[in-house]
This record gives sequence, structure tokens and C-alpha cells, in this order.
Amino acid sequence: MKRREFISWVGLGWIASSLPIAIAACSSETTTPTPTSSAPSGGWQKVGTSAELDKTGQLIVNDSPVGSVLVVGKSKSENLIAVNPTCTHKGCTVAWKDEAKKFACPCHGSEFGADGKVLKGPAKKPLTTYTAKIEGDSVVVKQS
Ligand code: FES
Repeated sequence: MKRREFISWVGLGWIASSLPIAIAACSSETTTPTPTSSAPSGGWQKVGTSAELDKTGQLIVNDSPVGSVLVVGKSKSENLIAVNPTCTHKGCTVAWKDEAKKFACPCHGSEFGADGKVLKGPAKKPLTTYTAKIEGDSVVVKQS
């Protein structure tokens, strides 16, 4: 084998041995990283902590992933109440009246039940409701 042929063979061998590394390097860039988020699964969205809820028995979040949410209850409650507190009449924020167990709008007097249904107008549409629960020390909700 001549010197030139030998160098050519060595060069080809080097390229051939480097090829799997080059392919591996390229393919690792195209793989999708596995999610590392610790967000609740199954459509549940964290809106706060049980400690925040327990302070007043209410937790209002305006910029949650599902929109505005008002959660009523305590972390030990069997059934947490959760609604979008935006009044369906003209958009004021309703308040929970614990003694009457209903939501009342301060603007024009509409009232809604704990299930979001209209008890008194002028609002005609119910409040959007969510299913809420405690998961660990988090308050999580999802669309009902
Ligand atoms: S905005 Fe709530 S009753 Fe009008």
C-alpha cells in the first residue's frame, strides 16, 4: 500500500468512527425534553396555598391559569366552593356572604348561589364554577 492510499484509508476510518458521535450529537438536539414541572396534572391548576385560604376562608386570584377564581372554605372543608367572581351582568366582582351562603354583586344587586346559579337579577347567566380541592398544601381548581 502506498503512503497516499494509507493516509486516505486512515482518514476514511477516522470519519467513519466519528460519524456515530456526530449523529448522536445532532439527534440529542431534536429530542423533546421530558417535562420537569411539578404542576398538578389532569387539568388541575394551583391557585394558592391552604394557609392563604385558611386566613380568611376565602382566596381570590385574578390571574390564575384558568382566569379569576374565588375559592370559599377552609382547607379542612369537605366541599370547597370555587367560582369566577366576575358578575355576569356587567362585570363587577361579586363577594361571598357567608351568613347567607351566597354571592352578592355590589353594583346592581345580583345574587348567586354557592353553585353559581342566579338567585336574583339583573344578571341572567350563572357564575362560572370550578371544582376545587386541597392537594398537599396547595389549593387547586379545574373547570367543572
Ligand atoms: S354588574 Fe353585577 S349586578 Fe350588575
